[in-house]
Amino acid sequence: MSYTIGIIGSGHIGHGLATHLAKTTYPVLITNSRGPASLADLVASIGGSLTAADFNQTIAQSDVLFIAVPWAQIPDVAREVQKYSGKIIVDASNNIVSVSPFRLADTAGKPTGEYVAGLFPAQRVVKAFNTLPAATLAQPSPTSIGHSVIIMSGDDADAKKEIADITRAMGFEPIDIGTFRQGGPLQDIGGALSGIELIRVKR
Ligand SMILES: NC(=O)c1ccc[n+]([C@@H]2O[C@H](COP(=O)([O-])OP(=O)(O)OC[C@H]3O[C@@H](n4cnc5c(N)ncnc54)[C@H](OP(=O)(O)O)[C@@H]3O)[C@@H](O)[C@H]2O)c1
Repeated sequence: MSYTIGIIGSGHIGHGLATHLAKTTYPVLITNSRGPASLADLVASIGGSLTAADFNQTIAQSDVLFIAVPWAQIPDVAREVQKYSGKIIVDASNNIVSVSPFRLADTAGKPTGEYVAGLFPAQRVVKAFNTLPAATLAQPSPTSIGHSVIIMSGDDADAKKEIADITRAMGFEPIDIGTFRQGGPLQDIGGALSGIELIRVKR
């Protein structure tokens, strides 16, 4: 399938996502809060199919949007995205609102993917790319041993299949761990798969 892919956020995770997405055949737009001029060096250093764009243009033109902004900024992004429908949202967030002291945002007892999906009711949301530290995500994949695993969960099976295909095109091995309710608690901060790097060894 052909997609235009958008990345909202050009920090630690956005940069790592851009590095791998830019190697695919998909056109990739990246945006942040400071505008495209601030992204010139990043785009020049990554190259490939990556282009800087402004926030509204990235949302309007993308079929698939990777959300790589801090937890507190997700509602701002959702407000703009709600002008559209049917986009696939890849939620790479964790609900960390303070590092020292360490504090997680209240999600009303929901896994973060389910909580974020509630902010994007007209879109199809997949939770993915949130379990690896940014420095690990930025590393080349595949390695000599095999492909790094990207854990995903969500309630839309077709959207997960599409994101699995994009994840493979990025050089990773996707593993679907079920719905938000099934997989989310494993994938969220404190879950058994959070912060764990898995490799699918070459067969
Ligand atoms: N860091 C990690 O190891 C890690 C691992 C897994 C998941 N995550 C999750 O990934 C998300 C991003 O984390 P990060 O470490 O990459 O954060 P970061 O380095 O602080 O980068 C955040 C990015 O979001 C952009 N941004 C903030 N508000 C925005 C808005 N309203 N519109 C557009 N762009 C906006 C910022 O723009 P400017 O550049 O213009 O300031 C920046 O590029 C978080 O939810 C985090 O929990 C992080």
